[in-house]
Amino acid sequence: MRFTGTIKVNSRGHLEAGGVDVLDLAQEFGTPLYVLDEEGFRANCRAFREVFQKYGDAMVLYASKTLCCLAVCVMVEEEGLGLDVVSGGELYTALRASFPPERIYFHGNNKTPTELKMAVESSVGRVVVDNFYELEVLDRICERLGRNQEVLLRITPGIEAHTHEYIKTGQIDSKFGFTLSNGDALKAVQQVLTTRNLKLVGLHCHIGSQIFDMESYAHAAGTMMDFMAEIKENTGLELPELNLGGGFGIYYYAGDEPRSPEEWARAVMTTVQKKAGEKGLKMPRIIVEPGRAIAGPAGVTLYTIGSYKEIPGIRKYIAVDGGMTDNPRPAMYDSQYEAVIADRVQAEPNELVSVAGKCCESGDMLLWDINLPSPRPGDILVTLATGAYNYSMASNYNRIGKPAMVLVREGKAELIVRRESYDDLIRNDIIPEHLARGKVIKIAAGKK
Ligand code: LLP
Repeated sequence: MRFTGTIKVNSRGHLEAGGVDVLDLAQEFGTPLYVLDEEGFRANCRAFREVFQKYGDAMVLYASKTLCCLAVCVMVEEEGLGLDVVSGGELYTALRASFPPERIYFHGNNKTPTELKMAVESSVGRVVVDNFYELEVLDRICERLGRNQEVLLRITPGIEAHTHEYIKTGQIDSKFGFTLSNGDALKAVQQVLTTRNLKLVGLHCHIGSQIFDMESYAHAAGTMMDFMAEIKENTGLELPELNLGGGFGIYYYAGDEPRSPEEWARAVMTTVQKKAGEKGLKMPRIIVEPGRAIAGPAGVTLYTIGSYKEIPGIRKYIAVDGGMTDNPRPAMYDSQYEAVIADRVQAEPNELVSVAGKCCESGDMLLWDINLPSPRPGDILVTLATGAYNYSMASNYNRIGKPAMVLVREGKAELIVRRESYDDLIRNDIIPEHLARGKVIKIAAGKK
């Protein structure tokens, strides 16, 4: 078991975060509840910023797909990071949080014309162009708006990182980016140079997520620098920016062996410095985009244990009041988490159980085969390291509302995302006139 930030066991043997006993949080805000440790989140932002900047000109972007809401954008801004957004929704959230647009990088393999227009009009720092079609569409949009846009090109460097099939992205057979090995990447560079409104300032790649192997990063950095040199040879252009994506792995479960941010920075920065020397290139500004490693360890989720079912000789199921709707990762990627019972974290874990969610789906399991100290109905179960890709991937399957999120700090808890109510669930529903029967409408309308 590993606790980070301000998440720890208090003198009563309870789990606490931000100086608040999580039992009090469950009592005050109900469950399921996402809890975010402000100090932990900010410390992670700072750690990446400091280690990369130590080596020279570097910028850290927080990948907002990991966990995005107004309060999170404000903290990221205050910590001096930039922001990676991948949709109009993430961009909108950032702008509404007054995030400086020049520090926003807009990614995505199919940004719609509306999203691209929104990005250009709001003066985002960079659009990371993913494919030839987007190059044309973006250039036309800029032409119509009478604007210029600085862009990076997303390159697929053909690096296989050791991670789950669905979250590795740098290999050649990927929906993302311009393929390096078949010449598409160089073609794309030449094409940007012919556009009237796009200014190429650098390259981007992202080799995958939950990566522990620093060699893969060094390999990617080296490959991208080689390509920078090839670009210079072919076009005379020396690109000032190299964005190497995110993917830095964290501890979820026994066997995960995360490296320190320092090791990531060293692997990347020393490779780039060496290559720059060899190839006679200026050192580009290095950008990285960690998401999981910033938000993941800073979050925990609280659930209340409800029903249970014992199949003698086979398995004991216990069920909680959330599941795949608030954390789809175990169902999608077989992800494993550690968990504790909030008021007896250090008690002997004497009972082997599997923790099910409440959705009508057998695959809705949060934890398989975990030893817990006599879990009983009413206990608060806490899953650890849930700050990344839980809230951001939550759904309303079975018309279950998304949980609230609280930010904890120095003994105080503040709501940063309200719990979805039943009214929230029907807020966008419409009963067409031809279906309207007085009674139904009254029920729906009466709840406004
Ligand atoms: N930059 C780009 C271009 C990305 O595509 C991603 C993640 C990141 C940065 C941030 O990666 P991180 O540092 O968080 O690993 N839903 C999956 C993860 C998908 C990651 C997608 N891209 C999961 O729950 O594991």
